[in-house]
Amino acid sequence: MESKKLLITDTILRDAHQSHAATRMRFDEMEPVLPLLDEIGYYSLEAWGGATFDSCLRFLNEDPWDRLRNLKKYLKKTPIQMLLRGQNLLGYRHYADDVVDSFIDKSIENGVGIIRVFDALNDPRNLETSIKSIKKYGKGKCVCEAAISYTTSPVHTTEYFVNLAKQLEGMGADNICIKDMANLLLPFTAYDVVSKLKKALKPETKVHLHTHNTSGTGDMINLMAIQAGVDIVDCALSPLGNGTSNPATEPLVATLKGTPYDTGIDIEKLLPLVNHFNKVAARLEKDGHLNPKVRKIDINTLLYQVPGGMLSNLISQLKQAGQEEKLLECLAEVPEVRKDCGYPPLVTPSSQIVGTQAVWNVLLGRYKTITAQYKDLILGKYGALPGEKSKKVVDMCTKGGEEIITCRPADLLESEMQTLTEKVKADGFYEKQEDVLSYALFPEVSTNYFKWRKAQKTGVDKDLADNPNKVYPV
Ligand code: CO
Repeated sequence: MESKKLLITDTILRDAHQSHAATRMRFDEMEPVLPLLDEIGYYSLEAWGGATFDSCLRFLNEDPWDRLRNLKKYLKKTPIQMLLRGQNLLGYRHYADDVVDSFIDKSIENGVGIIRVFDALNDPRNLETSIKSIKKYGKGKCVCEAAISYTTSPVHTTEYFVNLAKQLEGMGADNICIKDMANLLLPFTAYDVVSKLKKALKPETKVHLHTHNTSGTGDMINLMAIQAGVDIVDCALSPLGNGTSNPATEPLVATLKGTPYDTGIDIEKLLPLVNHFNKVAARLEKDGHLNPKVRKIDINTLLYQVPGGMLSNLISQLKQAGQEEKLLECLAEVPEVRKDCGYPPLVTPSSQIVGTQAVWNVLLGRYKTITAQYKDLILGKYGALPGEKSKKVVDMCTKGGEEIITCRPADLLESEMQTLTEKVKADGFYEKQEDVLSYALFPEVSTNYFKWRKAQKTGVDKDLADNPNKVYPV
């Protein structure tokens, strides 16, 4: 058998604690082991993007840009990988192209070496600007990895994914990632998808698999994908691996040792890292950020095809309405609502949009009330939907004369950087261009952080003097 070393991305610094502990790992909990992490021989370390940016500003009083620069000081050999939601960047709306371009410029300048970019609906037009900017600023220092949001539906066939991957490769992607954020991919399907992707893509295009172990299938998915020729898989060191996180690193390293797929990673070198992150996990649990339940297998995804995070959202919405007994009805309504809007993958933000509409349908009667976001989704404001939309629902959403958008949603946005820069300067918070980007993504949260930063530097806090009861997040 031809020998093919499997490459591993470790997500311990990003997805692992985002999945298990609300993204609350602090930089000082990473710092002591960064030199060792850099020595392991990982393909990359996922350490930035996703929810880390928001969490740094909102809860940790850390400037996310400082965190990136500090990580880069230690991670000299291993590329820092980030996760970016296409035209949404790390926020919750579509940003103008000049914001996307500047964000990517600064991310690469400050040390990101691989950008994984995805769109919830898999609309390639929402990835256009990001891919262009990654190629522009990343020459020789940043890999452009375009991800497919994996889901199941009558339109999401292996052929659909292969065509999409070829399109993304044509747009300039160096790597193609299958992003199975909800752990819906099953092991034999993984084999099928990966082997067909490897056949269809250029030999130099790497295929990177990202799955979770929520429903207990993660290790089997990885093993089948490896046999089908996948180049890279995502794992998380065991203290924050498995369960709702990614499959654990050590078992896979051990499984492949001495086989043609040997990762070359020395499992004994992982031991001090495991000991360290066990302590971090214990601290996160003690502070109430990690519920041990997240480590258990939960087969709800297999039963209802609803990602774990979405299920807990449904439950909390029903709880608020005092109608928890309607959960099964809601779970049955989700596929109907999803079908009516053309089968979007269920990932942020589409999972919340579809989930909330399903709850309203059950509580108030089907489409008696349509949420503003569901309407926007139908009207194309998030991008093109994968399948056909229900004519009845489209009619309901356009009866007030609303028009369906068919262009790239960001084409409707005016440039924003200048206005944003002026605003941050006028508020007296501008220290660097990156501050404008933080403000663009999270205006309120970053303003709070800027005030705190200023107070730290000057020892004077005007806001605190005006509002003595104000409490900053810690
Ligand atoms: Co993930």
